[in-house]
Formats: sequence, C-alpha cells, structure tokens
Amino acid sequence: MNREMLYAALIVLLLPISSQDGVFRVHQNRVIIQEEDSDVLLKCFPTISATHFTLRLANDSALPPDLHFMTDVTQGIVIRAARLSYRGEYVCSVRVNGTRRDSSVFYVSIKKKVRFPPAVCVEVDECVRVTGEKLQLTCNTSNPDHTFITEWQNSSNQTLQDKKTIKTIDGMVHVMSVINFLNVTKSNAGNLTCITKNKAGKNTATVFLRVTEKPYVSLTPLKPRGLKPTVELMEGATLELMVEIDAHPPIQDGRWSTPRTKNTSTYMETLSNIHRSYRQVATLSIKRIRADESGWYSFNAWGANINATTRFKVSVHHVSHPPPPPHAWTSQIFITIITATSFTVMLLFILLGVCVYRCKQTPKYEIRWKIIEVSNGNNYTYIDPTQLPYNTKWEFPRDRLMLGKVLGSGAFGKVVEATALGLEKDDHITQVAVKMLKASAHLEEKEALMCELKILIHLGCHANIVNLLGACTHGGPVLLITEFCSHGDLLNFLRRKAPSFSNSVFHTHKLSNIYRNLMEQQNHENCHEINSYMDMQQGRRSGEGTHGRDSEGGQRDPSALNIQHLLRFSAHVAQGMNFLASKNCIHRDVAARNVLVSDSLVAKICDFGLARDIMNDSNYVVRGNARLPVKWMSPESIFECLYTVQSDVWSYGILLWEIFSLGRNPYPDVVVDARFYKMIRCGYQMSQPDFAPNEMYKIMKMCWSLEPTLRPTFSNIVQMISALLPETSTQQQYKNIQQELTRKFESMECVTDKTNEDHRDKTSEEQCPLTHSNNYQLY
Ligand SMILES: *[C@@H]1O[C@H](CO)[C@@H](O)[C@H](O)[C@H]1NC(C)=O
Ligand SMILES: *[C@@H]1O[C@H](CO)[C@@H](O)[C@H](O)[C@H]1NC(C)=O
Ligand SMILES: *[C@@H]1O[C@H](CO)[C@@H](O)[C@H](O)[C@H]1NC(C)=O
Ligand SMILES: *[C@@H]1O[C@H](CO)[C@@H](O)[C@H](O)[C@H]1NC(C)=O
Ligand SMILES: *[C@@H]1O[C@H](CO)[C@@H](O)[C@H](O)[C@H]1NC(C)=O
Ligand SMILES: *[C@@H]1O[C@H](CO)[C@@H](O)[C@H](O)[C@H]1NC(C)=O
Ligand SMILES: *[C@@H]1O[C@H](CO)[C@@H](O)[C@H](O)[C@H]1NC(C)=O
Ligand SMILES: *[C@@H]1O[C@H](CO)[C@@H](O)[C@H](O)[C@H]1NC(C)=O
Ligand SMILES: *[C@@H]1O[C@H](CO)[C@@H](O)[C@H](O)[C@H]1NC(C)=O
Repeated sequence: MNREMLYAALIVLLLPISSQDGVFRVHQNRVIIQEEDSDVLLKCFPTISATHFTLRLANDSALPPDLHFMTDVTQGIVIRAARLSYRGEYVCSVRVNGTRRDSSVFYVSIKKKVRFPPAVCVEVDECVRVTGEKLQLTCNTSNPDHTFITEWQNSSNQTLQDKKTIKTIDGMVHVMSVINFLNVTKSNAGNLTCITKNKAGKNTATVFLRVTEKPYVSLTPLKPRGLKPTVELMEGATLELMVEIDAHPPIQDGRWSTPRTKNTSTYMETLSNIHRSYRQVATLSIKRIRADESGWYSFNAWGANINATTRFKVSVHHVSHPPPPPHAWTSQIFITIITATSFTVMLLFILLGVCVYRCKQTPKYEIRWKIIEVSNGNNYTYIDPTQLPYNTKWEFPRDRLMLGKVLGSGAFGKVVEATALGLEKDDHITQVAVKMLKASAHLEEKEALMCELKILIHLGCHANIVNLLGACTHGGPVLLITEFCSHGDLLNFLRRKAPSFSNSVFHTHKLSNIYRNLMEQQNHENCHEINSYMDMQQGRRSGEGTHGRDSEGGQRDPSALNIQHLLRFSAHVAQGMNFLASKNCIHRDVAARNVLVSDSLVAKICDFGLARDIMNDSNYVVRGNARLPVKWMSPESIFECLYTVQSDVWSYGILLWEIFSLGRNPYPDVVVDARFYKMIRCGYQMSQPDFAPNEMYKIMKMCWSLEPTLRPTFSNIVQMISALLPETSTQQQYKNIQQELTRKFESMECVTDKTNEDHRDKTSEEQCPLTHSNNYQLY
C-alpha cells in the first residue's frame, strides 16, 4: 500500500502541476501525506460558479464525526488538525445546476506524530589511542519512522564522515552509524558526539577520545587519595586500598606488594574494568589487619615496555589493654567499681538496643502537610502544629460511632469505615471514615495524629478536600472522623474504570494489553494485601445508613468514564490544591493515591500516609534516611529537600499524567536509580499520556518546568482547565457541591457540638460499640 502510494506520488510528480477535472481544477499531486495535528490542504477549486462546495469521502459514507474543514473557492479545502483516523479517500464536491459534481479522488494519509527525539546509544563513554592507531566508533539510533537524521560531529562541531546501515525492526527504524579513523592524530582528540534529531527534538551521546604520543601507564590512588597516600587504622579493622589504572595499551598485569604473606583467607585482590571506559580499578582488601602488617604497600602495573608503581603508607595501631589496678586499692572499692562499670555498660547496651529497635521501626509517621508561617525567599518557617488550638466543639461521643471494615492499613495506623449516629442531625446515620492508630504506634505517632487533627481544623472545609467531621480525643485512643468516599482512591478508581473507557477509545491491541496487565497486576495485589482504600468496594454497603445519599445527584458509579470525567477530576484536585495553597499549606505528597472519589464523583484531596504500608510500597523509594515518593517529586524537593507550593504544582503535573493515562505508574518501566535522578535533573519530561488532550499535556509540561517560578499557580491551573470544560456542566455541578457542603456544615455549625456531659462520662472503652467487627485490633 505504502509502496503504491510512493509510486503514485512519483508518477504524479512527473505530470503537469494541475489539470482540469470536470468542473474542478485540481492539483495533480493527489497523494497527500501529512503529520497528525497539522492541516491538510486539498487543492481543488470549482472553475465555474457552483454551490454547496464541500468535502466528501469517495465511497460516500459519512465524514469522521470530529473532522472539521474549511472551503475556499480559490484555495481548495483545508482539513483542520488531522487525526490518524482521517486517513482515507476524499473528493471535493459541488452542485452545478442542481446536480452533484465530484472531483477526482485525493488519497490522504496521516502519519503519527513523533513525540520523542530518537533514541541514541554509543558503546563507551571514553577511549584512548596512540597517534597512528585505528579507531572505529559505532552509534545506534532508532526512531518510529524514517524522518530523522543521525550524524557524528567532532569537538569543533564539524560533521564527520560515517557509514550508515539502516534496518527496520518491529516498526522501528534503526540506524547504525560507524566512523572510522585509520590514522588517529592529535587533532582528532576531544569529544566525538553522535547527534540524532527528529521533529520532536534532538538527542546526543558523546565519546571522549584521548590521543597520546606514545603508550603509557598512569596510576592514581583512589582510596585513599593524595600524592602521598597514608592510611592509619586500628588493629582488627579492614584495610582497603584502591588504584585507578589509566593505560594504553591495557596493562598486562598488576600486582600488590605487601609486608605480609598474601596467602590467607582475609586477603583479597581484584582488578575490574570501569563501566563504559577503558580504565580499570585495582583493589586490595585485608580484613582483621594486625599491627605487624604496618608498612609500605605498593601496586605495580606493567605493560609492554613500561611499568608504574604507586605506594601507600599504612600504619596499624596496636590496641592497648587497660593497665592493671594499683595494689593500694582495697578489693572492696575495686569490686564496687567493677559492679558499677558493668552496670553502666549494661545500661548502655540496653539503651543502644532500644535505639536500634526504634530505628528499625522507621519510617516514623508524620503528616506530610505543612503550613507555612513566614516565607522569606526559599526560607520557610512552618507553623508548629502542636501549638494549634483544638476546640472541643469537634468532640464526638465515641459511643455513637460504630466501626466497620478496614479501608486501609499502614505500619502504625489504619482507616476504617464507620457509621456515626447523629453527626449531622439527631437520629441520622452518616457513613464516615475513621482514622486511628494501631497498637504498634508510639508516642510520636500519637502526637502526629493529634497534629493532623489540628491542621485539618485550622484549614477549614472545602469541597475538594476530605473534610474533618469530628474527633474523639477523650477517654481512649484518638479517632479522626472524616468524610467517607465510596469510590475509594482515584488511582484504583481509574484503573478499575480503564477497561470500559477503553471500549470507546482504544484502536490498538497494544494499549488494551497495557491495561489488561495493569488490572491483572492489581487483582493480584489485592489477593495479598488490603492496603488500598478501594477494597471496601467489594462489599457495597447495605441500605441502612445511606439516607440522603441517593439525592446527591445522578453521578453515581458511571458505567464508563469519558474525557469529561478526567477533566473534572483534574479541575477538582486543582481547586482543592488552590484552597490548600490559599491557606499556606503545602501537601508534599500530591498523587492519585492521595485523592479520594466521593459518591457524586467529586475528587477530594487527603493524606493517606498513616494508612499506607510505605515500607512495602514501591512508590516510596529510600533516599537518605527517608522513604519518599520520588517519581512524584520536583527536582528541588529531590535534590535540595525544598518543598514549596511550586513543588506541589510539579507533583500535580504527575498526578495529571496519572489521570490521563488512566492510572499508569509514572515514568513507566523506569527504575529510580542514578540515571533516573540524572534524567530529572536534565529536564526529562514524560510523553503525552494516551488520553490527554493536547491542552492538558501543555499544562503538565508547564508544571514540570525545571524553574519553579515558571510553573503555573494552582489558580492559573483551575482557570486553564475550566476553559476546557463545558461551562454548564462543571460550574453548575461545582456550585451544587459547594452549596450542599455549606448546607451540611451549617447544619453542623461547621463544627460538631454534640458532646453532652452524659456522653462524655460514658466514653470509656468498654462502652464503645467496637465489638461490631473483628477485623481490626484495639489498643
Ligand atoms: C469509506 O472510506 C473510508 C475511508 O476512506 C473508510 O473508513 C470507510 O470504512 C469506508 N466506508 C465503506 C462503507 O466502505
Ligand atoms: C446551467 O443552466 C443554465 C440554464 O438553465 C445554462 O445556461 C448553463 O449552461 C448551465 N450550466 C452548466 C454548467 O451546465
Ligand atoms: C549497534 O547495533 C548493532 C546491531 O544492530 C550491535 O551489534 C551493536 O552492538 C550496537 N552498538 C551499540 C553501541 O549499541
Ligand atoms: C558546538 O555546538 C554547540 C551547540 O550546538 C555550541 O554550544 C558550541 O559552542 C559549539 N562549539 C564550537 C566549537 O563551535
Ligand atoms: C599517519 O599520518 C601521519 C601524518 O599525517 C603520517 O606521517 C603517517 O605515516 C600516517 N601513518 C599511517 C599508518 O598511515
Ligand atoms: C574537526 O573536523 C574538521 C574536519 O574534519 C577538522 O578540520 C578539525 O580540525 C576537527 N577539529 C577537531 C577539534 O577535531
Ligand atoms: C568534553 O565534554 C565534557 C563533558 O561534556 C567536558 O567536560 C569536556 O571539557 C569536553 N572536552 C573537550 C575537549 O571538549
Ligand atoms: C596458598 O594457599 C593454597 C590453598 O589455599 C595452597 O595450595 C598453596 O600452597 C598456598 N601457597 C603458599 C605459598 O602458601
Ligand atoms: C619493570 O618491571 C620489571 C619486572 O616486572 C623490572 O624488571 C623492571 O626493572 C621494571 N622497570 C621499571 C622502569 O620500573
């Protein structure tokens, strides 16, 4: 098919430019290949006066519903922002004296737009040659189509002559570009760069070439460093020496000479190559070194005619034993001292043990949200949440709370579903979620939960955060009562809905497979652990206690999600974040897993940290002594531990990517390692997710500006997204929610004031109706 088109195009090129075609004049080149998103011009125009100038498919079926075109009797017909689905055979059509006249057929083919620069790879980062030697370097690049270039340049940006081999494997075009120096000279030295470019940008890989006059061996002490490297260590410690070997041609052998015999199990020598380099590292390690092993240690390397040696001075200090006690002391005093000493030592050991035990319990729980008190450039002072007030008006009697199923569970805390009697109005039952600590929690976690409570009170209520409804702080463990969101967390909600979304949108098997895999993975996870908020979905709650819910609007559990839903979720989260920002609050863990979806499909921000098993969640990566959601974090948070509203904006961009990929893991298939950090530092951005409209992808990219001040504010984002939404639906819906919320909180006076004296007296643990279910633990 493609080949035919090419031939057709060639033949057409040889013909005159345009010709008379019935009532039309048409351009002879009627094979049109355009890139996705660009405009397609069909050069046909009526030569006589005619009406109903329009575009049709050659086979007379209906035009694609989303196809927009413009007609111009002097230019022809322009199809706007072409999509892949527009490819086909078209004719221009008019009516002359009431009869339809069509032009000849235009063959329109739309190419997929490339979104990444081509991939590039060279075999090494550095190499070395003696003048006159040969050198051959290979650079492999690949791109989805042929429209890309690959070339080698030297350090003065001169293009070098190369030999290219082109192959197509699995729909990817691979180019292998080889440069050959038959006689390397000094002038070839420097950075040789393989550059590859397509419309989406360029990518480079560099090989540093070092050229020397003659063969050489150069040794550099790496551990310890310095011109006269010396090591001082105690008897029994491990001695480790390292030397970097830079030689050309490669050394034939290298040996350590030491003051001791080498043939013991504690002695080890290694010689290893540095990855992607011609250099090597020689290591010597001696465990449990003795004092008589002090002296000069040296490493000797030899090549064809050259040797090199480097020497280390090693001093091993003898560990002296404590002197015997003076005889003048009476044995009584001596025994007392011994006893006291051993007691102290024992105490120290116990303390150490406790400390180690406590440290093993990391990470400690703390609420990620912080409220800025004063900001002075990048120096923030945070409000100490322990100093925030707690108003007993929020107190809710424990005995009116009936705890149910566990919704999520972490190392120290959990969230359970519950029903509250008389929270909104007397005798009314409200479905709520209750956050509490587990028995394993320590004093710090108890304080942390109290801080969280105070922060929520300080922030106040908003439609797009999971609002506090009340708390139990007296007469038992602290319980935080919050809104219940029946659809669980956004991440799992999107993943569950992805298959039905796909029915309307997917064209390719490839995509649906990705989602099938995701679903399987997720089902698999669910068998093993109950750590996702969505688990409550399996047992839909029974009719009791759901008063008033059904009136919340017809938005409940849609059978299929569409782009509008995704846009609305994005808008909701932006509104919630805008609210937090207006309260000087930074969230520090903005991610789809920390957004809940309510009955009426309103997205609400929360911090699910307490009820998440961070230790076993691969999204939280060890960095320093903390576990952090690195893939969601801005570069300044990763590298400088700097958290600001702008770094929340970055994370929000990642959350958008999660939404519009229907719950895929960000930077799919990328492991968080040194390369990842480098990538982020260099400004790598994820590509457009499958379901993101171009405008949303633009917002994501703005959120991922390396320069924090260039990122949009949450209020900018709210505006940008609402511009994409049909006015009536969202704004009306949002207004409704806000009104409803106001109503709800008015009826509660925005605080629950239900604590009568008699209730407070009874709120001891035995009287809590906590025996309702047995799948959670009490203190
Ligand atoms: C008409 O042609 C278009 C593309 O040229 C194609 O997608 C469509 O299926 C065709 N319709 C029929 C009925 O053949
Ligand atoms: C259209 O009809 C008019 C009169 O009926 C006639 O003069 C004219 O030639 C016709 N045009 C064409 C293109 O057939
Ligand atoms: C380039 O590709 C060829 C095969 O296509 C392979 O043999 C060679 O190792 C590759 N080189 C690099 C640097 O990836
Ligand atoms: C080579 O090009 C890069 C950018 O493409 C430029 O920064 C650099 O200065 C150029 N070097 C020379 C020697 O022209
Ligand atoms: C390499 O080039 C130098 C100077 O250009 C020349 O003197 C020498 O003979 C060449 N060697 C070979 C092997 O071609
Ligand atoms: C780069 O290549 C050009 C042409 O091959 C040559 O004239 C120039 O000396 C080279 N420069 C370096 C630094 O290699
Ligand atoms: C080669 O590139 C590296 C890093 O990109 C740079 O530090 C070095 O100065 C460059 N060397 C030359 C000779 O251009
Ligand atoms: C070194 O140890 C090996 C076995 O571990 C032994 O066969 C060899 O004789 C020893 N050589 C010397 C010089 O002690
Ligand atoms: C090089 O090493 C050999 C033995 O390995 C030795 O005989 C020779 O003297 C050494 N030469 C130099 C310059 O160190």
